[in-house]
Amino acid sequence: MHLELYQKKAFSMNSSKRNPQYINITKKEAWQIVLKAKDISNQKTDQKSYLIKILSKKKIIQCTFSKEKKRIISRNFESKNISMNILEMYLKIIFNDNTEPYFIAHLAQSLDGFIATRKGESKYISSKDNLEHIHLLRCISDVIMVGSETVKKDDPKLTARLVKGKNPMRIILDKDNKISDKFMVFSNKDDLGFKITSTKIKTQKSNVFSLPLKKGHFKSNDIIQLLKKLNKKIIFVEGGGSVISNFYKNNMLNQLQVCICPIILGDGKSSFVIKAPMKIEDIEFNEISYHSMGEDILCNLTLIP
Ligand SMILES: NC(=O)c1ccc[n+]([C@@H]2O[C@H](COP(=O)([O-])OP(=O)(O)OC[C@H]3O[C@@H](n4cnc5c(N)ncnc54)[C@H](OP(=O)(O)O)[C@@H]3O)[C@@H](O)[C@H]2O)c1
Repeated sequence: MHLELYQKKAFSMNSSKRNPQYINITKKEAWQIVLKAKDISNQKTDQKSYLIKILSKKKIIQCTFSKEKKRIISRNFESKNISMNILEMYLKIIFNDNTEPYFIAHLAQSLDGFIATRKGESKYISSKDNLEHIHLLRCISDVIMVGSETVKKDDPKLTARLVKGKNPMRIILDKDNKISDKFMVFSNKDDLGFKITSTKIKTQKSNVFSLPLKKGHFKSNDIIQLLKKLNKKIIFVEGGGSVISNFYKNNMLNQLQVCICPIILGDGKSSFVIKAPMKIEDIEFNEISYHSMGEDILCNLTLIP
């Protein structure tokens, strides 16, 4: 499809309907709807549509999401603080009808295409709104997956503390077993920190999965089979650039979210490391939506619907 048509489609999705009978909900109430939807999706998987209902300050707030139409088909609320398009985006992820694990990747990058400074600092290049979005994505995911370099450089907690939701399992790709238990992904009391190492590493630890290597990497299919065995359905790949590029090249990503932050770093870690660049005539355009997040713009590409 022609680029202009995509842009038209994307922008038309951003016009929200106003109805004087709608209840005005807060951002936190919208998050409660998302978290409730996640709970419902864990219990019922085979419905065509889902009624999501919460009670907040004696008000019933509800919406119905159609799995077939992949959109909210009715609601009794609107919000000045969160767009309905972004709410719909979370529900689309939660109620995706893939039989395979559904992968969402997110990177926050500068205007000049870097996700961190040359030293590897990236805390925090994106806005508070984007950080909250990341924490909400964590809550609706069953696994957060990151590369070993992200843990080494950032020592992230990878919890959902900003939105007070449940923490998912954290899996670090650490083939040589270089990441020690002192890093916060492992030292958190919730005991949800895991890693995947090469089968060459011998360990008795219960939080280590083993996979064979092919040309220095785990095979996509082995990662997918492991996640299926663990019954994990939504996988949030949170970085860094090497892991996301690798998953992108191997057609593993259903959604790729790139948050464009209005800063220029001049140099640093590139968002994407793709060795075989595209020819201009081979470029493909994917379905895209844009969401404003504080000072940033989130570009959400659907790579595999
Ligand atoms: N702005 C953002 O949104 C954001 C998000 C996350 C991270 N970051 C920044 O990004 C930087 C780190 O990114 P990065 O690209 O250098 O590294 P990375 O993607 O975090 O980690 C790369 C490492 O992960 C392992 N790995 C990746 N794919 C693998 C596969 N298929 N099989 C086995 N192992 C695999 C390899 O580890 P081995 O070394 O064991 O081979 C590889 O060297 C940090 O500076 C961090 O601050 C920014």
